[in-house]
Amino acid sequence: MSDKFCAAKEGNYPHTVEGIKQFYDEWAPNYAKDLTHDNYTAPRWLAETIAKLVINKDANIMDMACGTGLVAQELRQHGFTNIDGVDISTISLKFSKERGIYRRLICDRIGTNKLDIQDDTYDGLVLCGSLGQGHLNQECFPELIRIVKPGGLIVFNVRSKTMDTYEKFKDGKFDTDLQELVRKGLWVKEAYKLIPDLVLNEPGHLYVYKVV
Ligand SMILES: C[S@@+](CC[C@H](N)C(=O)[O-])C[C@H]1O[C@@H](n2cnc3c(N)ncnc32)[C@H](O)[C@@H]1O
Repeated sequence: MSDKFCAAKEGNYPHTVEGIKQFYDEWAPNYAKDLTHDNYTAPRWLAETIAKLVINKDANIMDMACGTGLVAQELRQHGFTNIDGVDISTISLKFSKERGIYRRLICDRIGTNKLDIQDDTYDGLVLCGSLGQGHLNQECFPELIRIVKPGGLIVFNVRSKTMDTYEKFKDGKFDTDLQELVRKGLWVKEAYKLIPDLVLNEPGHLYVYKVV
């Protein structure tokens, strides 16, 4: 296992966007190997979840924070043909491109900034393994909602350990902020599940929201 894998398993990530970019640029050559070896089931769970809900396989699907493309690989196995991806790590995107699955790959920071994507573009959006310290947090959701069509679905997960320890998420803050977006009429909650071995053989929360 690479040193990056060990740091990730412990949740020892850089706290800045630049630090995270460098972390994943350096991990990218070993990322898929490390996580396949450790039975990283989240990409499979999230792809399966969206495949059950988005029946049209020509639908536009966004793999947000796509990394080296593990989620797209699963989405393709479910028959999806129009998959785009965004990530900040240029080296990870190189590995994603080599898979030959993505229609469009965008290198950008995901947060409160506006991405170079038109409103209401996607029928489904998957955000896998990318919410937590130094990564994305709930502040990104209005921008993700903007690019998903009304009626489209947003599927994402959070490690239980992250939910319980990350300052921005713990003590119910994460769910309160998601609920605030419901109150504003931006999305509605479709499903939630606690999965015992979602990320690195540890439990995780899986959420599905429908854009209004
Ligand atoms: C644990 S990896 C998950 C990659 C992929 N979704 C998967 O499940 O294999 C987290 C990814 O989030 C990306 N990332 C973290 N913070 C980001 C940000 N603010 N904007 C864009 N990408 C970010 C990293 O570069 C990395 O590829």
